[in-house]
Amino acid sequence: MAARGLWITFEGGDGSGKTTQAELLRAHLEGRGHRVVRTREPGGTDVGRTIRELVLHHRGDIGPRAEALLFAADRSHHVASLVTPALERGEVVIQDRYLDSSVAYQGAARSLGPDEVRRLSLWATEGALPDVTVLLDIEPAAARERLDADDKPFDRLEAEKAEFHARVRDGYLALADAEPERFLVLDAVRPVDEIAAAIRARVTDRLSS
Ligand code: TYD
Repeated sequence: MAARGLWITFEGGDGSGKTTQAELLRAHLEGRGHRVVRTREPGGTDVGRTIRELVLHHRGDIGPRAEALLFAADRSHHVASLVTPALERGEVVIQDRYLDSSVAYQGAARSLGPDEVRRLSLWATEGALPDVTVLLDIEPAAARERLDADDKPFDRLEAEKAEFHARVRDGYLALADAEPERFLVLDAVRPVDEIAAAIRARVTDRLSS
């Protein structure tokens, strides 16, 4: 059987710099001849883009459980139709957000319960977990300054209050504590190239092991 590829996810609050770092890693790995699939949740597939629009931009109310199920539905289809096949082809998957986002946002911040939300996602994906998860840790106030500077309209989650984002952060840090093998936690206010170097070091290590 061909070697399974490597699955890397990026996590962190809104405005933590995930996309910048994911792009730098993609460029680095492609430069070294790896086949890379860049994707994200929600919205990494066709049906996922429809779910993304609904869950992030719907104007009326969406209850917390319905919201959790929408993210889980996107995730289920994404893993089955895109992530798993790429890993089976031996490729590297670099992904913005995965189930840890649901545990932090829906489980911790929306108070549905981290364990229940994690179980829901694991059911949806038949237990799929990334090889490396980079958590870009940032204080919500610093992240908010970055988002304000970007001048993009806030989605339903970004528009939540400061306390919500503080719970997201605590939820993430608890996850990283529970799974130190999978998580690489980096201070997101460090210079971009220092963060990128730390990520490259971890990924290179995993690729060679
Ligand atoms: P993201 O795509 O990172 O936002 P953008 O690219 O617009 O900056 O994420 C969209 C939002 O969805 C973000 O606020 C976090 C939230 N989210 C959850 O609440 N639960 C989840 O399971 C996922 C994947 C995202």
